[in-house]
Amino acid sequence: MTKLLYVRTSPRGEASKSIQIADAYLATYREAYPDAEIETVDLWDLGLPEFDGDSAASKMSFFGEAGMTEKQKAIYAELVRLFEQFNSADDYLFAIPMWNFGVPYKLKQYIDLLSMPGTLFGFDPAEGYIGLLKGKRATAVFSAAIYHDGAPKAFGTDHVSTFFTDWLNFAGISDVETIWYQKYKMVSAAEADIRLAAAQSQARAAARRPGARA
Ligand SMILES: Cc1cc2nc3c(=O)[nH]c(=O)nc-3n(C[C@H](O)[C@H](O)[C@H](O)COP(=O)(O)O)c2cc1C
Repeated sequence: MTKLLYVRTSPRGEASKSIQIADAYLATYREAYPDAEIETVDLWDLGLPEFDGDSAASKMSFFGEAGMTEKQKAIYAELVRLFEQFNSADDYLFAIPMWNFGVPYKLKQYIDLLSMPGTLFGFDPAEGYIGLLKGKRATAVFSAAIYHDGAPKAFGTDHVSTFFTDWLNFAGISDVETIWYQKYKMVSAAEADIRLAAAQSQARAAARRPGARA
């Protein structure tokens, strides 16, 4: 049976455009795969641990540094628990606003906590990084107010979809569909509604694409 993990990274709840679009995906997904298990996580409610010196030490010990202290072992166990929740899914849905050209810091924190050598990725001196997640796919919804496709650099640069897609690929997830909602130059509320509906329609189509295993 397929499990979908839906990760909300905007703190704006129902007002969030990325969430409104991802919710359209979710509604269609439920219809298409009634047997699929669905888990929703809001990164702002998850109580993510800090990625502090002990977290870094417990991670770096895998790169051949000194063994872990008892405290670091406990932190490592918490990182493994978080990873196992993530790894329990075969399908992922992310709602991600652009914040200062990149991802919201809660998502970066989640990524830093999840990216454990030996669980999420391996490394080969000749080949480089090896993603350890297998047979999974992802859909990511991105939202921005000023940045837009083809915009001059003064309107910002997209380090959101590029960074996040690279991270998914690094983890071993290569089947990735991305959906953008770009608000810039919407002259009226009606036009904003049309663009939102178009993004939601794209999300519904993405939810029906082949690949989910329910
Ligand atoms: C802290 C913060 C930083 C932002 N930085 C950018 C930015 O760099 N470029 C941009 O186009 N929009 C930026 N925005 C606007 C959001 O990307 C935009 O409103 C988006 O639709 C929000 O997504 P949401 O509705 O899912 O929360 C920023 C908003 C916030 C709150």
